[in-house]
Amino acid sequence: MKPVPGPKTNIREVDATPYAASLIEGHRDFGYSLETALADIIDNSITADANVVQLVANTSLDMPWIALADNGIGMFEAELIEAMRLGSKNPTATRASKDLGRFGLGLKSASLSQCRKLTVLTRRGGKVACARWDLDRVARRNDWSLELIDDWETVNGFDLLPESGTVVVWEKLDRLSGGYTHDRAKRAAHLNAEVAGAEHHLRLVFHRFLEGPTPRIKLSLNGRTLKPIDPMASNHPATQKDPDDPLRLKNGIIHVRCHTLPHHKRMSREAWEEIGGPEGHLKSQGLYVYRENRLIIAGGWLGLARQSELTKLCRIAVDIPNTMDAEWKIDVKKASAQLPPVVRERLKKVVERFAGTSKRTYRSRGRKLVDESRFPLWNRVQRDEQIIFRPNHEHPVFREFAEKLPEHLREGFDRCLRLIGSGLPIETLHAEFVGNGEAVTPDVTEENDLKELVFSLATTLMENGVDADALPETMQSYPMLNSNWSSVSQLIEEYLRTKVQ
Ligand SMILES: Nc1ncnc2c1ncn2[C@@H]1O[C@H](COP(=O)(O)OP(=O)(O)O)[C@@H](O)[C@H]1O
Ligand SMILES: [Mg+2]
Repeated sequence: MKPVPGPKTNIREVDATPYAASLIEGHRDFGYSLETALADIIDNSITADANVVQLVANTSLDMPWIALADNGIGMFEAELIEAMRLGSKNPTATRASKDLGRFGLGLKSASLSQCRKLTVLTRRGGKVACARWDLDRVARRNDWSLELIDDWETVNGFDLLPESGTVVVWEKLDRLSGGYTHDRAKRAAHLNAEVAGAEHHLRLVFHRFLEGPTPRIKLSLNGRTLKPIDPMASNHPATQKDPDDPLRLKNGIIHVRCHTLPHHKRMSREAWEEIGGPEGHLKSQGLYVYRENRLIIAGGWLGLARQSELTKLCRIAVDIPNTMDAEWKIDVKKASAQLPPVVRERLKKVVERFAGTSKRTYRSRGRKLVDESRFPLWNRVQRDEQIIFRPNHEHPVFREFAEKLPEHLREGFDRCLRLIGSGLPIETLHAEFVGNGEAVTPDVTEENDLKELVFSLATTLMENGVDADALPETMQSYPMLNSNWSSVSQLIEEYLRTKVQ
């Protein structure tokens, strides 16, 4: 028998401390964008109980800088040093329920993803502390020594520091300058566009904090207060809200609430575009996952369904507590998560009921109505970006009737048909299909009407070269006839008998 090595047998130890210069550069590339980086800094302010958060972007200076100032609890110097440490909190430690942090990385990795010089000024109990990571200095020294700055009055952003609170200052904005190192005007324009893009994201991500008569926080950009964007349009009278459907799990309760947005004609254009976001409504349908009220996933079905035109108005708010981070695989940026299997199963049912059924109904009817029949009652007409459904004036039943009418009444008849087309209740249909698709059916056709339809259609089809033998199959491709098939097949036989006689 081989001897089992003891705990120290054959083990030598060497120092393998990471190289500061390369490790800190690596922290720049967690995949943050300006908007997700700013959101991560604002998370810290919210966790620190701030109710005023000011974003200031000085974009047109020779050395542009961005600052986020809050009036939260601030930090003592020892706390600031801890906060500046990469990986300052254990991700598996329990967090207070309002804590929006996760890995103890956000402040550093979010900031350094956008800039090479991060300075944090903070005041707590009347004492100011100021610390800095400058990547060029770390690169030179290749160690983890943090700069503590005692003449903090001279630091950019100091003016923004309240009685109690914290200012995070980003300088050397290498990644936000669009490559315009010397052209100040172009660089400013680029920076402004980036900041404007991030503004939408912040209004969306923190909308629950910005809403209501007494918002939890007041967030401003260069002095202008940012208004919330509620992706559920909850306050719009035409939004349909299903009741909350809580899912009780080992680590907490998840709340699931389905919403159907109003049709765009019922909203102002501005509001509609705002909740559609830069990618538009088709891409914005789906799940909206909130962690402690902070939006972490905005749209998409996370593999549970496809984003289709028919489910464009479906949005499901899913609320999770921060006790479920491990199961949800919340990433460092808090910009993605994965559904735990048990939630996936449950949500799949919700999504299927909410979105799936309507799609099936629509597809099968749509296809037959449009493609397979030769004389549809309705025509699908594509005009630019729009799809229009129009009664088919050329349909044999309509045409035959029109021909029987005296000349002066024909125009009136055509007008009636056109009105039926333009009066198609699209919004109502849409809402019904989305919420209750299977229940939507066409009206029953009267015996006599059916006979009239079958006979005139059969005549036209045969005049157009359809064989008597092929008649039943051709006619079955009409959804309306197919749904009355037992009567229709008898009528076809009757028609063929009368033809032979
Ligand atoms: N604006 C702030 N006000 C007070 N404390 C802060 C602020 N920002 C960061 N901190 C402190 O720094 C710590 C590290 O922040 P961060 O790197 O974002 O990690 P995390 O948020 O995951 O804890 C926080 O846990 C908090 O104690
Ligand atoms: Mg954080």
